[in-house]
Amino acid sequence: MVKILIISGSPRKGNTEFVLNKIYESLKDKRELILLRNKNIKHCAGCLHCDEHKKCAIQDDMQELYGKIQKADLIILGTPNYFDNVPGLMKDFIDRTNPFYETDKLKGKKVITIVVGGGKIKNSKRVVEQALKYFHEGHQMKLVGSYCFQALHSKDIENNPKAIDVIEKIINKVNAIK
Ligand SMILES: Cc1cc2nc3c(=O)[nH]c(=O)nc-3n(C[C@H](O)[C@H](O)[C@H](O)COP(=O)(O)O)c2cc1C
Repeated sequence: MVKILIISGSPRKGNTEFVLNKIYESLKDKRELILLRNKNIKHCAGCLHCDEHKKCAIQDDMQELYGKIQKADLIILGTPNYFDNVPGLMKDFIDRTNPFYETDKLKGKKVITIVVGGGKIKNSKRVVEQALKYFHEGHQMKLVGSYCFQALHSKDIENNPKAIDVIEKIINKVNAIK
């Protein structure tokens, strides 16, 4: 059975969370949804303790997530576009995965990225290509899908039948992953 970890980087209960919740509710396999907005995840302190020890010295909710990330076969990362980047919540999460860097602990795990932006889709693709790319590449994970939505207000996706169709496609894709 494929273990799926779904992670939301939005500070609000809005579009990203709606998409991820739909995926979460539909999945038959073992899955867990993490809302970073409900977690206590501090900024990376830059101490590089992890470089030597392959562990992070900061004791917060990230410690629990390290175990969950390692157990997952598929990680679905959902994030809003903030200034053609990810919000601080998601950036802190990504930075705090540095203890896995140059280890093989995440090697081969599958990743799907989902980005929601109020502006043009081509702008959110920049988030995929810049802010998120080195998360999966740096950890030697395998990007198996990438989706961008255009939505500004918190219920825009919920009220958009075309967006709901795309969510269905993502669900089918995830269900087909072995
Ligand atoms: C601080 C801030 C910066 C934003 N920057 C961008 C941006 O550069 N490009 C864009 O397309 N949307 C931008 N947006 C709009 C959000 O991406 C949009 O509201 C999205 O629906 C938020 O996703 P959420 O509902 O999952 O939180 C920004 C929103 C905020 C609050």
